[in-house]
Amino acid sequence: MRVFCPFFILLLFNARLAPSWAQYHYQSLMNYLENRMLAMEERISLWHEQSNRYNSELKEFRQQATDLMERLGKDHLKLQLDLDGAGVRVERVEREMDYIETQNPPKPCTKAEDKMTEQEGIFKPNRKEEELIPVTGCADIVSSIRAMKILKRIGNPKGVWTRDTVTAKVYIFSGTEGDTVNEFSLVSALSSSPSSSRSISLPTFWNGTGNTVHNNHIYYVSEGSEVQIMKFDLRNGSLVDRAVFPVDDRSPVYTLNPETVVDLVADEEGLWALYGSKDNINLAKMDADTLDTEQMWDTGCPRENAESAFVVCGTVYVVYNTRPPSRSRIQCVFDVNDMVTSGEAPLLYFPRRYGAHSSLKYNTKEKQLYAWDDGYQILYKLTLKPKLWV
Ligand SMILES: *[C@@H]1O[C@H](CO)[C@@H](O)[C@H](O)[C@H]1NC(C)=O
Ligand SMILES: *[C@@H]1O[C@H](CO)[C@@H](O)[C@H](O)[C@H]1NC(C)=O
Repeated sequence: MRVFCPFFILLLFNARLAPSWAQYHYQSLMNYLENRMLAMEERISLWHEQSNRYNSELKEFRQQATDLMERLGKDHLKLQLDLDGAGVRVERVEREMDYIETQNPPKPCTKAEDKMTEQEGIFKPNRKEEELIPVTGCADIVSSIRAMKILKRIGNPKGVWTRDTVTAKVYIFSGTEGDTVNEFSLVSALSSSPSSSRSISLPTFWNGTGNTVHNNHIYYVSEGSEVQIMKFDLRNGSLVDRAVFPVDDRSPVYTLNPETVVDLVADEEGLWALYGSKDNINLAKMDADTLDTEQMWDTGCPRENAESAFVVCGTVYVVYNTRPPSRSRIQCVFDVNDMVTSGEAPLLYFPRRYGAHSSLKYNTKEKQLYAWDDGYQILYKLTLKPKLWV
């Protein structure tokens, strides 16, 4: 509007000179202005209309987006339900298979021994793999029992054999009590010339199948008036430490191996003790240097029908069997770091043998179990996978 002002003044000035001419001009100016105003009003109302339309379009779009989100949410819920259903079905099939397995135990594979010795090559530890595995902070879970190898049958039906990860020497505790242990320089020496062993006399007797060898030391359980854990230095042959282990009553850790009240096992995180308490298996973390008990847990795994257990990366795997022996299986898992639940860990069967394990000792370097099964010395190769799937 301000643009027109000079014109307006000019025209008023002219009007004084020639009234009729001025009047005419004044009128046309008014008309012009009126037209301009009308045009602007029209345009404003057009803008109004447009903005209204945009507004309602925006509203509509918003509504559509909300509907879409709602629908997506519903679809997601349905998918989740479907997944849950599938999970339940898989579980049922697994349970049925388990049942069928226990109802129709297949005949023991008599040829197993021959077959397994042929596969000797696969048990050579892979050097590269060993170097890559960190000693601490491991977070692996057992995903399968990959292979089995029967090495020898020496000694009593029950016993322990294990290998020191540091020295690679093999140790044999035959029977469920005694005071000697046999040392072999190599696993191959055990199968080729069993007489080549060195016999080590321990200063006290050992009881059960809870003995283990870790870091150049024998840790063994001695049951006198008290249950004691002994630490024997293999380098100079002396008892370096002993500690009373706090068990209330001497209930066996595993009901299928009643001679063992404390089972000592080693993993990547050090030394552990498994022991019985009421109906369950308890776990204690031990300081391998001082024999201090650092922490204790109730694993929630029943002692009933358990035959043995081992620990990998802070997770306990309890192995169950039946009497008379059928097929050993890992049926209860306990993770001290709460990262693995029994539901997550698969039900794992040991290869068909229908023996009874009196001990299972895990070797952290080779990722295999040293098992004593009815007098046979057996190796089980494990497959591990990370606990967390990221
Ligand atoms: C432990 O072994 C010793 C020596 O063989 C034996 O005398 C003792 O009775 C055993 N203790 C138990 C509780 O079996
Ligand atoms: C054996 O070695 C350990 C640790 O190196 C030491 O504490 C102990 O006194 C030694 N024992 C003997 C009898 O030399």
